Amino acid sequence: MKRILVLTSGGDSSGMNAYIKALAKMCKKNNIELLASLYGFQGLVENSITKINYDELGEIQNLGGSIIKTSRSKDFVTQEGFNKAVQNIKSHNLECTIIVGGNGSFNGARDLFNAGVNVIAIPGTIDNDLAYTDKTLGYDTACQNAIDAIVKIKQTMDACDRGTIVEVMGRHCSDIAVRSAILCDADLLITEKSIGKNKILKKVNDIIDAEKKNPLIVVQENILDIAELAKYLQDNTKKEFRATVIGYLQRGGEPTASDKLYAINLACETIKCVVASKLNIAIGQNNNNMIVKDIVQAVSMVKEPDYKLFDTYKQYTKK
Ligand code: F6P
Repeated sequence: MKRILVLTSGGDSSGMNAYIKALAKMCKKNNIELLASLYGFQGLVENSITKINYDELGEIQNLGGSIIKTSRSKDFVTQEGFNKAVQNIKSHNLECTIIVGGNGSFNGARDLFNAGVNVIAIPGTIDNDLAYTDKTLGYDTACQNAIDAIVKIKQTMDACDRGTIVEVMGRHCSDIAVRSAILCDADLLITEKSIGKNKILKKVNDIIDAEKKNPLIVVQENILDIAELAKYLQDNTKKEFRATVIGYLQRGGEPTASDKLYAINLACETIKCVVASKLNIAIGQNNNNMIVKDIVQAVSMVKEPDYKLFDTYKQYTKK
């Protein structure tokens, strides 16, 4: 009987549980034993490994977070911790280790591969910042969560004729911000540090001069301090501004139908590869087809901004 191990690593994303459930189901169907490492790479260092039984999982596909927990392991990135992790993996006689996470976790997967461990990497992050795949698991849900929050914020800001600044997650990737800006009909989208306060003020004044009573500004995280920006705009226009960092609301909650289906497709592809002993790969999706990429190649690719999404923003939303 083949035995595989799964772990979730880094920031959790909605869809990780759906993937675990689908993986467990596919393991049961294919007579494969499924283990999990608790708290991601940390569980490998500490040999904190548990068995997963499909029949005990209940309805976890509907839950955000990760039932097998996640972490940004500090021990795994030390030589000593890494060696322990490799030793522990080898002691379990695994066909392969499945790493679900974002680009930091993919580096970990590549390092394990280089140390002789068979791996499969699954794109699980809200940020959509992995270049080899069109989408990451949890991105669609995070966008929906961001949009739901912005819709609510807009309603209360509209009632008071206030300007609204919202910051969305994405680490250094603009995709959540651009999607949210399009779908919430933002008046201004800020994804570059170089824009500068004066230019923002000029754009906002133009928007106010065009009789917009409640301008909406969407800002990508790690670009600027939106509380400071709200004060600056309020001090330099005749309009009140309020700032909201949407934050972790984006990461939790039930996955969208699209993410649930993606989780199932990722799990089916994973097991197909395990059965065929096609290992040391990253699985993803391009043009609606499941794809498999060599792990080293996948990690080396650099994510570009989503130019098509920016085009839609420019054509449809930009004032
Ligand atoms: O990578 C996912 C993410 O939610 C990013 O969007 C965000 O920058 C980061 O994680 C926050 O990480 P943490 O919860 O560890 O502070």
